[in-house]
Amino acid sequence: MLKKNILLGITGGIAAYKAAIIVRLLIKLGCNVKVVLSEKAKHFITPLTLATLSKNPILVDFFDPENGSWNSHVDLGLWADAYIIAPATANSLSKMALGVADNLLLTTYLSARCPVFFAPTMDLDMYKHPATQKNINTLIERGNICIEAQSGELASGLEGKGRMAEPDTIVRKITDFFEAKLDFLNKNVLITAGPTYEHIDPVRFIGNYSSGKMGFAIAQEFANRGANVTLVSGPVNISTINNNINRIDVTSANEMYEQAEKHFHNANIAVFAAAVADYMPVIQADEKIKKSSENFTLQLKKTPDIAKLLGEIKRNDQINVGFALETNDEVVNAKEKLIKKNFDFVVLNSLKDEGAGFNHDTNKITIISNNAKPIMYPLKSKQQVAVDIVNNIFKKITSIQNGQK
Ligand code: PMT
Repeated sequence: MLKKNILLGITGGIAAYKAAIIVRLLIKLGCNVKVVLSEKAKHFITPLTLATLSKNPILVDFFDPENGSWNSHVDLGLWADAYIIAPATANSLSKMALGVADNLLLTTYLSARCPVFFAPTMDLDMYKHPATQKNINTLIERGNICIEAQSGELASGLEGKGRMAEPDTIVRKITDFFEAKLDFLNKNVLITAGPTYEHIDPVRFIGNYSSGKMGFAIAQEFANRGANVTLVSGPVNISTINNNINRIDVTSANEMYEQAEKHFHNANIAVFAAAVADYMPVIQADEKIKKSSENFTLQLKKTPDIAKLLGEIKRNDQINVGFALETNDEVVNAKEKLIKKNFDFVVLNSLKDEGAGFNHDTNKITIISNNAKPIMYPLKSKQQVAVDIVNNIFKKITSIQNGQK
């Protein structure tokens, strides 16, 4: 049973009819539910339906026109353990992002001290529009939790992303949030992610196909479990969506090393998920290199091996986890890295496995450590792989605390 005070804000979109099911599911979980409707939402769902289901009067205006009693947005914001705005239309999202306070639902949003969840719903082109995406990202950066719209058939008859998440998905997000394990609370975690780009000249670089998805998923999982995460990321196309993540963007291996080294001393755990270029050009030209001779030789020198250098100064109270991206002799190579870089364990992913490694949304890993048999996992989403990795780190910490090696 969840047993929380939940405030549900319903704005004027067709998906408002599904809000009745959200109320019902929350009541079943033992929650007290109060509902705030925008004026337009009343066209899509009746206050009577919601009042009957929630067993509370429905709030629309700042005051009750019948008897003049005041609906205090401040009290509502303080009463709620969570404020869920579902559906959240493009119009309301833009007002939330800007801080417009022209109805009770929005003033309550501005007053709420509790976690705020919002479930966008709109037509696919409105959803994709840079203005809407910017508003959604602003709210996420502010710490509000977005329950992403789904793809499917829309009220307009078009197909695409913009359907409000189903009521059971929305309610599961809320329960997951309150039931989340905070087993890494007060732990400092350093993560490297993404590729590095090594400058050849102003228009060219040496890089690789890493998207950052694996490292970011690990950062997200640690942050969900209460850790303070420093994420040192190479050039990637992902936004970070958690207040517990301090993201530092870098470009080259040298810059990644500089930032990782700076934050390593304070870290309890370091995870090296980045695909760092092993070599960089000896000369990095300031001007574009012109095409002249038939052959062109680029002289390279080694970049700092971040994981190895930090492995050398690792304290006994720190845990270092590395990755090994292999194409052959996977286990042998991974074991070599385990020892050479002083890792507590290595996450092996092989480019031979379909759906594993660079850029995929999935990965297939084997965990290799010194004193245990390799643990092989099936192909999973990178989010689920992150859960497995973080669970293994938790086990490692527990075994160290219990005096095992
Ligand atoms: O970013 P994605 O698209 O999601 O892809 C994920 C991934 C394939 C990049 C990731 O799962 C992964 O395998 N990362 C490590 C890739 C790699 O460089 O492996 P490696 O075997 O070359 O390096 C071994 C370890 O040393 C790694 O932990 C690496 O981060 C680290 N290293 C390597 C070289 C270097 N100069 N500095 C390092 O810290």
